[in-house]
Amino acid sequence: MTQTQDEQKREVAQAAIQHIPIGSIVGVGTGSTANYFIDELAKVKHKIDGAVASSDDTAQRLKSHHIQVLELNNVSEIPVYVDGADEITEHLHMIKGGGGALTREKIVAATAKKFICIADQSKLVSVLGEFPLPIEVIPMARSYVARELVRLGGHPVLREGFTTDNGNIILDVHGLKILNPAELEMDLNHITGIVTNGLFAKRGANMLILGTNNGVRIINI
Ligand code: 5RP
Repeated sequence: MTQTQDEQKREVAQAAIQHIPIGSIVGVGTGSTANYFIDELAKVKHKIDGAVASSDDTAQRLKSHHIQVLELNNVSEIPVYVDGADEITEHLHMIKGGGGALTREKIVAATAKKFICIADQSKLVSVLGEFPLPIEVIPMARSYVARELVRLGGHPVLREGFTTDNGNIILDVHGLKILNPAELEMDLNHITGIVTNGLFAKRGANMLILGTNNGVRIINI
């Protein structure tokens, strides 16, 4: 039976709930798949101690469901972080940041013990890079960073009219065929003016819950 992308997103969000420890603080990602997860989390909110949000939008949606939103600095442990991805490989390396929340997503993911990625099957790829790689940049460094990205073989495009929750801009880098995501992630981290790049390879996901036409498939690393 063919399932729409939205049906797959809802199904993976429902499946993720089974992996949330009772009484824990949950790290919550950003985007349409994460939104389905928030709606599912609301149904079991009495079983968790609260949530840490990866964006202002996510915080707002959690609050609208009367789920307590905690400051990351006041939380000592996040057993599980649940988030979507723009692209993910079988090695559970990802491109994220299509929604522009990559920096806070990377911070919450770094804090969490386990990263569960929830995604519909269109997100699974063999090589990362078809989706333009989002890079959050300090505004005054835009031109310098863009030149450095061209030197790396990319075609950076400014995300027009968009400012991140941290007051920065996003450059979306087209034309990259990312064969070694961990190496590129590190190289990008060394460019002055880049706040965060959207490669999640050094800290990839631990589990992928993938929506398919044959139901949910789980890949563990
Ligand atoms: C936001 C993200 C999202 O996880 C990513 O863009 C996937 O979004 P969606 O679930 O809407 O496809 O990284 O910054």
